[in-house]
Amino acid sequence: MSADLVSLAIEASKKAYVPYSHFPIGAALLTKSGQIFQGCNIENASFGLTNCGERTAIFKAVSEGHLDLEEIAIYGETANPISPCGACRQVMTEFFEPSAKVTLIAKDGRTVEMTVEDLLPYSFKELE
Ligand code: THU
Repeated sequence: MSADLVSLAIEASKKAYVPYSHFPIGAALLTKSGQIFQGCNIENASFGLTNCGERTAIFKAVSEGHLDLEEIAIYGETANPISPCGACRQVMTEFFEPSAKVTLIAKDGRTVEMTVEDLLPYSFKELE
């Protein structure tokens, strides 16, 4: 499934609304029930209102009633695979299991795989 998510993340980046940064990001995620949601970053003249591509995909899924997410792929037009910001890592922690696969994709299609917990160890929650 990851291969599909990679091409869908790249496709999603084409819809990015990035008149300020010119830095498109695309994301594609798979829900536990097998549905796919894509997202892109959406900027605003009031810069702080920008929504990242990963969070757009997650919020689309959650707003359609999908709370259990399986894995996500994230694409940036960068020489090396792009790594998600802290806000997106925290949001990912809310809806993915710690062991969920995250595929990070570079401009040339090269990928690096890690987990949600790799990206945000000791996230905001009561320690077990
Ligand atoms: N951006 C994302 O879409 N995801 C991230 O994880 C970090 C940054 C976007 C926000 C903004 O539109 C552009 O990349 C430059 O920061």
